[in-house]
Amino acid sequence: MHERSRGSATPPRDPDGGAWSGPEGARAFAAVEAATDWLLGYPFVFRHLARRIGEGDVLVDYGCGPGTVADAAARRLGARVLGVDTSPEMLELARRAGTAVAEFHLVEHGRATGLPDGCADAVMCNHVLASVPTQEGLLAVFTEVRRLLRPGGPFVLLTTDPACAGPEYASLRIGGPGPGPTPGEEFTVRLLRRDGSWQEVRNHAWPVELFAGLLHDTGFHDVTQHRPTVDEAEEVADPDVVRSRDWEAERRRPPLVVTTAVAH
Ligand SMILES: C[S@@+](CC[C@H](N)C(=O)[O-])C[C@H]1O[C@@H](n2cnc3c(N)ncnc32)[C@H](O)[C@@H]1O
Repeated sequence: MHERSRGSATPPRDPDGGAWSGPEGARAFAAVEAATDWLLGYPFVFRHLARRIGEGDVLVDYGCGPGTVADAAARRLGARVLGVDTSPEMLELARRAGTAVAEFHLVEHGRATGLPDGCADAVMCNHVLASVPTQEGLLAVFTEVRRLLRPGGPFVLLTTDPACAGPEYASLRIGGPGPGPTPGEEFTVRLLRRDGSWQEVRNHAWPVELFAGLLHDTGFHDVTQHRPTVDEAEEVADPDVVRSRDWEAERRRPPLVVTTAVAH
């Protein structure tokens, strides 16, 4: 598949937030296409949740961004979805989008404001950890997710594997030439925008093997990891998405990992 390269730009950074913070960062993320995620990522997160929560249960989307995925989860699962994020601009975009999300809450000083301990029947956290610069920051995210979950509540985490540098994924290019990044190091990811151009972003490279230990340390058990494949997606993802491309690179080396855990 040929890359359409009508320019790429890196959104400006906010010292307190990740690559998508600030008004321009929020608008930039809202413009990405995320085809690979809608094939190998989000449908598998929803499948895991659908087996564990139902109509009216509370699902927190931790790092909800512009609310697109939270909206899809609310519609598919019938859950009462609460979107939380560190970026007021992302939350403003999400509020204005008229989604099926019940409430939005700002994360300030590592805490989702206005949400009591154990309020969530489940939490999902999609593509957030790549914005977190330190291992302490990862622990802080897991600690807050654990605070929000009721005991026994499921946690689903979707991440891109930084080790999958090289292949030309449909909507994603991971890293550049040269040796791979060390844990936590910044590296470049490019995401296809809906207008066919590419958005460049600086991410932090967290190896997927790191998560199980950090989750155990923050009050989770029964950690599993799964790397969804295109063959599996044929049963799980939207048929229009499955038919939209040949998914050659995704078949060769699937780049997304779904980590699941249960709150003690
Ligand atoms: C790449 S976007 C993903 C948005 C959404 N989850 C999705 O998959 O479309 C990452 C989001 O995580 C938010 N974020 C970054 N660090 C966070 C943190 N420590 N706690 C909560 N949200 C955070 C950012 O503001 C941004 O909206």
